[in-house]
Amino acid sequence: MRTVFPLLVAAACGASTPPTPAPATSTTPPSAAAPSSAPSAHAILDGMDDRTPVPMPPHMALHQKAMMRDHLEAVQQVLDALAVSDWARVEAAASRIGTSPEMAQTCEHMGAAAPGFTEQSLDFHARADAIAQAARDHDAAAVLRSTSDTLSACTACHARWRQQVESAADYGERMGGAAPQHGAVP
Ligand code: HEC
Repeated sequence: MRTVFPLLVAAACGASTPPTPAPATSTTPPSAAAPSSAPSAHAILDGMDDRTPVPMPPHMALHQKAMMRDHLEAVQQVLDALAVSDWARVEAAASRIGTSPEMAQTCEHMGAAAPGFTEQSLDFHARADAIAQAARDHDAAAVLRSTSDTLSACTACHARWRQQVESAADYGERMGGAAPQHGAVP
């Protein structure tokens, strides 16, 4: 078995290591303990990021980021459709980020461990509703205004919050023992 970690090989194979000329003296025994006592890169990053954490287990974090990328795509489509005055398409794109019972439920879920997060999410979706309304009114200036207003909700939220990914077990404990209930929807 070949490995790129000679120290670990030495540790694992011990006495069976062939008596080849000793490499440069290494007085420190190959201690496997060193890495575990160092903070993880993730912990270091969290320590440097002073935004408020939104705790969530990995599957929720993945879902949230996928939704975020979809939000960005929706805004891009709003502008793309606006450029050719395709009002139906502006409205459809805006509706993807507008208020709906499903969206509200997802926001409640995402912000369950971060007081204030859900409210900010709902406010964002309400701003996007105004884009759809402006599209129904065929009012380009209002579409632009409400899109800008919606984007300021994106940037304000990003400035305030960050994901804090933790194990499903830790999250369940944080939530008072209730296992994170999350549908099969990716
Ligand atoms: C209520 C809060 C909130 C709102 C509103 C919001 N986001 Fe986010 N978004 C987040 C959080 C939290 C993250 C994770 C950021 C982190 O941990 O650094 C994120 C991450 C992202 C990412 C990165 C996704 C990835 O794959 O890493 C994109 C892109 C993004 N948001 C786009 C948007 C856009 C576009 C809007 C508005 C149309 C928006 N977001 C509105 C909270 C929000």
